[in-house]
Amino acid sequence: MHITNKTNNSQKNRLIIVSNRLPIVLSKDNKGRWQAEQGSGGLITALAPVLKNRGGLWIGWPGTSRAHDKKALESVFTRAAGDFGYTFEPVFLPESLVNAYYFGFSNQVLWPLFHDLQTRCDFSPDYWNAYQKVNEIFARTIAQNIKSQDDHIWVHDYHLMGVGQALRKLHATAKIGYFLHIPFPPLDIFLKLPWRFQILESLLCYDMIGFQTQRDRRNFVQCVHAMLNHIRIKGRGQVLSTQVNGRMVRVGNFPISIDYNEFAKKAGTRAVEKRVDEIRAVFPSDHLILGVDRLDYSKGIPERLLAFRNALQRYPELEKKISMVQIVVPSRQRIPEYENLKHEIEQLISEINGTFTRPGWVPIHYLYQGVDRTELTALYRAADIALVTPLKDGMNLVAKEYCASNIHLDGVLILSEFAGASSQLYKHALLVNPHDIEGIADAINQACHMGLDERKKRMRALRKIVKKTDIYWWVDTFLKAVFSHDLDTLGPLEDYIPSQEISNRKNSEAP
Ligand code: ADP
Ligand code: G6P
Repeated sequence: MHITNKTNNSQKNRLIIVSNRLPIVLSKDNKGRWQAEQGSGGLITALAPVLKNRGGLWIGWPGTSRAHDKKALESVFTRAAGDFGYTFEPVFLPESLVNAYYFGFSNQVLWPLFHDLQTRCDFSPDYWNAYQKVNEIFARTIAQNIKSQDDHIWVHDYHLMGVGQALRKLHATAKIGYFLHIPFPPLDIFLKLPWRFQILESLLCYDMIGFQTQRDRRNFVQCVHAMLNHIRIKGRGQVLSTQVNGRMVRVGNFPISIDYNEFAKKAGTRAVEKRVDEIRAVFPSDHLILGVDRLDYSKGIPERLLAFRNALQRYPELEKKISMVQIVVPSRQRIPEYENLKHEIEQLISEINGTFTRPGWVPIHYLYQGVDRTELTALYRAADIALVTPLKDGMNLVAKEYCASNIHLDGVLILSEFAGASSQLYKHALLVNPHDIEGIADAINQACHMGLDERKKRMRALRKIVKKTDIYWWVDTFLKAVFSHDLDTLGPLEDYIPSQEISNRKNSEAP
């Protein structure tokens, strides 16, 4: 099935985005009719506006198994193509493959391992077989959709590391870019993967391998040098290169971002203003603290709640003065660890509220649901403090969305040093170690006492960075790095990401 949006088909250098998920997820409503919903997560938030802006094709799994009522599905996708302004190519996968490839290899091997949480891995060999099969299915779908050597094929994320290699086996000669949205682990952790050589060799079949941060790129280069010692990756600046089987392979770091202008514009709309006033009226406490996450153990939500409790215990003057809103969007619910995490979070919130609630004041408000863009932006604007404390995160777009939405410049960003975003925002956020409960509590207290001048100074600087390196900058920079013939023609890519020598810093010290 190829659902076409005619306006974009004749475009030269057509962009073909390939990711595990399409940006819309199909499900059946209670009357058995197909419905399309926006998918969740950073990859979709980042890439959806790009394709909307320049048109193209998005190849991905629609979140459902092969459907029998093809006609009904076709009409859902045709409608979506009209609404979204680009074309969809759904890749249907049988349920058994979804279980082993998506819930298994992708989310119980690669996700935990690459987030340094190897004890959560299940290295079942069946998962690996399914992963290879699905990567081959994706490669065949791409091959069928390549129309010209000028098509820009861009494969995304950890689910599809083997697609480049499978495409080469199909004799595809087009240039293929790849971007890993999650961290790349250090050598000692990567070595635990039973299929470590296969994964490295697959990645080296792409023409460009993009990472979020210098740290991720360094980890990858170190793994290649240690394990495949005939390959040397060389160069300076943002893009390095090497020769593999007579082909040039480039390796770079490109911090992903958001559509800054869209968030900033939305934050100034009347609908958002109105919601901000309503939210403020519901939370009359002096400081509103916000957490927004997909339900995931990498996000450090229990640790954050413990830190909030610690702040209430150690700084009793904050009683009735701070309230926290924690929004959690359901994710990967079929994996038991995710379900257990939900219970852990809910139990902690209930304990904290049970202990600290006073007449007229409930410390934590919890929403287990996705919220729409107006509500999300209003919450970002209403929040005095954003608590973004993942244990490890490729980038973390919530941190950038908070800054972009903070049009009055009065919010404080508390940010984990293990979020990729810290490599850009470390100077102006309050940086914390997400495992350091007291450290986060101190940062909350510090944020509550920070004067308006300092808050504005920090937020202005944060917004400047996010604005300058928005999602369109990211796409242009990446595509230039893949498709330009001569790396020197790239010009000076701003290399403002220093190595993160931040762990010795104490919260009380000025950054
Ligand atoms: P990840 O990609 O791991 O989910 P990111 O922080 O990079 O983490 O991206 C999460 C994206 O999902 C952001 O764009 C954020 O706005 C969105 N999101 C997270 N939680 C919710 C929610 N409860 N409702 C709506 N959007 C959400
Ligand atoms: C992260 C991953 C994305 C993924 C998203 C949501 O952002 O990098 O590839 O799409 O989480 O997870 P899900 O499993 O629902 O696609």
